[in-house]
Amino acid sequence: MTNIFKDAFGASPVQSGFTPGRVNLIGEHTDYNGGMVLPTALKQGLSLSLSPRADNIVRIASDKFKGIAERDVSQSRTDDWSDYVLGAIIYANKAGFLSGGADVAIETSLPIGAGLSSSAATIVGLLKLARTEAKGAVSDADIAVLARRVENEFIGVPCGIMDQMAVAIAQPGQALALDTKSLGYDLIDLPDDYHMAVIHSGVYRQLNEGRYKERKEECDVVKAHLGLEDICLISDAKFETLAGLPDHIIRRARHCMTEHRRTIKAVNLLKNNNMRDFANLMIESHISMRDDFEITVPQLDNIVEDAVKFGALGARMTGGGFGGCIVACVKNEDLNAMNEQLFARHKDAFFVG
Ligand code: GLA
Repeated sequence: MTNIFKDAFGASPVQSGFTPGRVNLIGEHTDYNGGMVLPTALKQGLSLSLSPRADNIVRIASDKFKGIAERDVSQSRTDDWSDYVLGAIIYANKAGFLSGGADVAIETSLPIGAGLSSSAATIVGLLKLARTEAKGAVSDADIAVLARRVENEFIGVPCGIMDQMAVAIAQPGQALALDTKSLGYDLIDLPDDYHMAVIHSGVYRQLNEGRYKERKEECDVVKAHLGLEDICLISDAKFETLAGLPDHIIRRARHCMTEHRRTIKAVNLLKNNNMRDFANLMIESHISMRDDFEITVPQLDNIVEDAVKFGALGARMTGGGFGGCIVACVKNEDLNAMNEQLFARHKDAFFVG
């Protein structure tokens, strides 16, 4: 890591550290509707290093891209990958962690654009390094909130808080049971005898493609109708009052309400090591994302179905939707057999971890 930095900038970095990616086990599209989420940190992630600069220049070297990108803290976004770094440095300035630009190097073991939060990890990781540099006393949760602002305000992605909290707080092997309304959370160790297999479908998508925003706007219709923000928390009786709305809007609301309830149940099942019932909820969650929230694609539906056919206790699409990864709950001893059959049938899919 230090080598990428040293090769690019001719000196050792002042700060460096690792930030994991995340995969969400259950609780999808609940994080901007007041609900629960249950992501876990991955072993794969980003090694980041940073040295502050006295001028306003931001230089970025990465093992994923050739050359050195150069930006300036007075710039706005240009819809380039370097925006994530620039946004983090600009907001580190706003928070008083830095005063000016920085040299940054990134080494990643996380597939980019796979829905495993490489962008949240970039921003959170750099904000943490800048915090250390400033000897700041800001909490990890506050770093996550600041990182979400970078995505919402600077990058223009209307995401919730799940990814930033997951990568800021959870360690690999831990799930973060997060109440996205209060930001209260519990860290739960995943059981050793099961693997939460992350498999990329081979279908790529980006949040700023617009379909994520479309779902968010559909949730806004429900919010406006009910006059409340937290549509995950509504009662059955409240849900019935949506009857006059278009069918697809009612289904979006039903997903939010049922997904939140499933996630609460899943957290308790995980705490009690009841992985069979936990995995059944993953399957229910996928069906809800497929039929009610309509964010899956046929390839993902097929991979999920086959993962269960080939030995997983349960599986579901994970992340924003329309591509990316599935996560499958599988007993350790069944993992190889599942993978063999799955990858024989799905040639574009690949094992992430
Ligand atoms: C993306 C967003 C998150 C969350 C998920 C869906 O990962 O960044 O905030 O909304 O989609 O659960």
